Amino acid sequence: MISQKEYKRRRLNVAKTLKANSVAVLLSATPKTRSNDTEYPYRQNSNFYYLSGFKEDNAALVIVRELRTYKVYLFVAKKDEAVELWTGKRVGAKKAKEQFLVDDVYEYQELEAKLKEFSEGKNQLYYDFSLESSEVDVLKKATKNVTTHSDISTSVQLLRAIKSEAEIAIIKKALSITQEAHHTAMQKAKSLHYEYELQAEIEYVFKKSGAYSDAYTSIVASANAANTLHYVSNTQALQKESLILIDAGCEYAYYASDITRTIPASGKFTEAQKELYEMVLSVEKKIIKMIEPNMLRSELQKKSEELLCEGMVRLGILKGSVKKLLKEKAHKKYYPHGIGHWMGLDVHDECPYKDAKGKEIPLKAGMVMTIEPGIYLDAADEKIPKKYRGIGIRIEDDILVTKNGYENLSEGIIKEVAQIEQMSHSSL
Ligand code: GLY
Ligand code: MN
Ligand code: MN
Repeated sequence: MISQKEYKRRRLNVAKTLKANSVAVLLSATPKTRSNDTEYPYRQNSNFYYLSGFKEDNAALVIVRELRTYKVYLFVAKKDEAVELWTGKRVGAKKAKEQFLVDDVYEYQELEAKLKEFSEGKNQLYYDFSLESSEVDVLKKATKNVTTHSDISTSVQLLRAIKSEAEIAIIKKALSITQEAHHTAMQKAKSLHYEYELQAEIEYVFKKSGAYSDAYTSIVASANAANTLHYVSNTQALQKESLILIDAGCEYAYYASDITRTIPASGKFTEAQKELYEMVLSVEKKIIKMIEPNMLRSELQKKSEELLCEGMVRLGILKGSVKKLLKEKAHKKYYPHGIGHWMGLDVHDECPYKDAKGKEIPLKAGMVMTIEPGIYLDAADEKIPKKYRGIGIRIEDDILVTKNGYENLSEGIIKEVAQIEQMSHSSL
């Protein structure tokens, strides 16, 4: 649970980044049509949620920055019995005023008129530059006299990079659910016949545990499908001799988890699968061990490429000198993605990787980053030893940077060969 005090502190921190005599506006997410009159489940805009903790649509947060002080206003949907009969109760302005530590609460339809008032005599407007153009037009029209515009997302995302204790507790909760889901998948794989059955088992654990949703579409990729990085159709039959790459994580109380495990459909790795798996696992462990404040993500990337390239040469997947292969980027064919990314309110948390001058931002205590090396060997690639063709492996954990090093937040999710094989034989 994030306390109202914490939301207030976050708003203060954003207000500090605003120029004197400015207005900042953040809007709630717009509901998205799925087809005809059905909608996707509503998910709040992450930056708006980070600063408000407000879950409903048709809402806005406005920070009015004076020379030395600032005021915060929340705009919420009007209470309307006829609408609420269909779509549920709204908090409404009166209750919101009691619950949220803001200076005042208004109804959403007052936003334009209030923005006109707030922007009087101001010289800068901050809003989210990725808003729909129709929304931007409304904001610009209401604040006509303010012609200098800046993106509010930048300062919010910088703050989002460092997680508080309360945020880390929620991510840990998300990961405990994701742990149960992956362990269930390991136990059930050999008795199931289709990728989607395994997906259903995983997402059943998410939902029954009170997770709002998956944090991203689950990937359950068996055999050669694992070599399609974002395979999400999950429709194939499971073949007993193959591996299954499962990249799935729940979202709990708006926070993501992001975990990949690669397991044998039969419950037992073949020798060839084991050789590859152990290689990727040892790289993953070595990279995790490097995590500490001031480390650069680009260093982790470089090291993971070196280690994977060495492993590929050792296993006969690439031939020649490691140094030369790295220079030619030959390993990229089989390890084409990044070593990891920030994670938080979004699975790919939108926190910046570079500062305003384009300099890489080093790791700092409180950041959460995934580590996810992989190797992808297409079935049709005749350049690689036959025994390895059609195998794709990724192993992914979620790591917190601490003052002295790191904490693997997903440490409880098993990944050793012997543990996975044993788990597949344990009854539920
Ligand atoms: N699940 C998406 C990723 O690992 O980045
Ligand atoms: Mn990831
Ligand atoms: Mn992932």
